[in-house]
Amino acid sequence: MNEKLELLYEGKAKKIYSTAEEDKIIIYYKDDLTAFNGVKKSSIQNKGKLNNEISEILFKVLENHGIKTHFIRKINNREQLCQKLTIFKLEVIVRNVIAGSMAKNLGIPEGTIPPNVIYELCYKNDEYKDPLINEHHAVALNLATYKELDYIMNVALKINDILKIILDKESIRLVDFKIEFGKNELGEILLADEISPDTCRLWDKQTNERLDKDCFRRDLGSVEEAYLKILKRIK
Ligand code: TMP
Ligand code: ASP
Repeated sequence: MNEKLELLYEGKAKKIYSTAEEDKIIIYYKDDLTAFNGVKKSSIQNKGKLNNEISEILFKVLENHGIKTHFIRKINNREQLCQKLTIFKLEVIVRNVIAGSMAKNLGIPEGTIPPNVIYELCYKNDEYKDPLINEHHAVALNLATYKELDYIMNVALKINDILKIILDKESIRLVDFKIEFGKNELGEILLADEISPDTCRLWDKQTNERLDKDCFRRDLGSVEEAYLKILKRIK
């Protein structure tokens, strides 16, 4: 029986609790939703439950394809038991279609398909608004070594290949996504955090309907309905 003990950390969308086992944590998915570095805030009924289930499904798919992740098992509709990791202060972003900050910052129309897959690193730091950095900045900031960054990039691109194919089968275009990695006591680097419509851009393949957090960021319609559509398709 795994029970929550002490609240270790509370983020914008999740809470992390210790358990009786040193090397395990419980992640609790909240209904809270924020955008623009916490400037826009809301709470969406059932969002935590939907993301818990969507993330569980996608982490299991990735595990089945040989990706090592922190996920152990789902405890209930809001909680997961996961390995405790030291998280790299990096947001790892992969883009297949130009959207969001890349479209805005570089003046490229959203929806443009680039000839390559785009890999980005951001420094996970709210004070500096998660700035875009390169691998040399990351090493200089002591966030990871070159070897670790190399490994992380290769795994991130493999994750993209896997998710792109399985989502495409459900008529979902994987536009871009953000993932995080951490290291366990054995020094293994594992996929951490979550993969959900909060952390991905997912467009309907036929209509380009937004089925992700852009519904909230840009007031495009019901967040719950969009996330539910993703869950139903991947289930
Ligand atoms: P961006 O286009 O705003 O840089 O976002 C790229 C991807 O990263 C997109 O799928 C949304 C996700 N993302 C997060 O998960 N957390 C964040 O704080 C930000 C800014 C983006
Ligand atoms: N997660 C970030 C925030 O709250 C930004 C975003 O996803 O747009 O503020």
